[in-house]
Amino acid sequence: VAILVAGGAGFVGTSLVNGLLARGNSIIVIDNFARGADSNLEDGKRSGRLQVVEGDAADLASLRAVVRQHVEPGKITEVWHLAANSDIPAGIADARIDLQDTFMTTFSLLELMQEIDARRMFFASSSAIYGDLGRRILTEDVGPLFPISNYGAMKLASEALITAAAEKFLERAVLFRFPNVVGVPATHGVLLDFIRRLKVDRTRLKVLGDGTQQKSYLHVSDLIEAMLLVEASSSVKVEAINIGPTDQGITVRQIAEETVSVVAPGASIEFGQGTKGWVGHVPRFEYSTAKIQNLGWKPALDSLGAIRLAVRQIAEQENAI
Ligand SMILES: NC(=O)c1ccc[n+]([C@@H]2O[C@H](COP(=O)([O-])OP(=O)(O)OC[C@H]3O[C@@H](n4cnc5c(N)ncnc54)[C@H](O)[C@@H]3O)[C@@H](O)[C@H]2O)c1
Repeated sequence: VAILVAGGAGFVGTSLVNGLLARGNSIIVIDNFARGADSNLEDGKRSGRLQVVEGDAADLASLRAVVRQHVEPGKITEVWHLAANSDIPAGIADARIDLQDTFMTTFSLLELMQEIDARRMFFASSSAIYGDLGRRILTEDVGPLFPISNYGAMKLASEALITAAAEKFLERAVLFRFPNVVGVPATHGVLLDFIRRLKVDRTRLKVLGDGTQQKSYLHVSDLIEAMLLVEASSSVKVEAINIGPTDQGITVRQIAEETVSVVAPGASIEFGQGTKGWVGHVPRFEYSTAKIQNLGWKPALDSLGAIRLAVRQIAEQENAI
């Protein structure tokens, strides 16, 4: 059997593919390389069990061609769907981006899965589906949900499409609701942004918002462990599961300070105004991770630990130290 990983050449995909290969699986990655890169998967290719194909996962004809050309009929039994637009502001500026890359990828992958009789779907959803619900405790069954970005809206719509497909043909559907994930190969996100800005001007770092926005962060190594554990230890037909650290998160100010101390010690940090970094950005976010903790999972790193490790890793990636 083989696993199709859509968006597998991106940041999370790279670690996921390596984790699946380590378990002995055969993998086929489809990625349009908008953010991901073939070179991220060089290590994995040495296993002889990984194929990486360039293609658009929103386009059913491309998906069919990939399957026809690269795998024996009936071989793909499950799909891990990580393809999406990961640039939230870009999706707010042009709603078609999230429609295409975040939603239509889900739509077309489900069409393909039905055609080839692949019945297990593992989906990278996001805490962005919750929107800004204030101080409510966000367990997986809270609702109604009111996302505040097109990205969050298209993730929530994707979840809905997957649960409908479970009624029709899927045997297993897991909706992983990711927090902010950090690590390498970084393709986007606040750390990459700060480090790139500091490379241009090592004397100061300008930060959007007043620095009080607070969120939790998870290192990608902990995320992959959590995903593989859920897959192996639960067999509920359809489930959503929040993944995240147990702490209350850290502020943008702390992140800026950590980054400056590693990349450009002594640089000044200049804050903007207001708690919102950009439209569609949730300033304070915390959700319940009781469900995944009940499976016996605990992250090795808390938010600060994850940020500290990732700052060093990304600074090395960017040749900034
Ligand atoms: N990193 C995070 O903090 C975070 C948080 C919540 C959810 N997620 C979700 O996890 C998944 C992986 O995110 P990531 O951080 O690795 O981002 P990423 O941008 O590095 O990975 C997404 C991959 O999908 C590919 N892609 C985009 N559109 C495609 C298309 N139409 N066809 C084929 N490939 C396409 C990109 O080239 C990229 O390799 C995404 O679905 C993202 O929405 C990530």
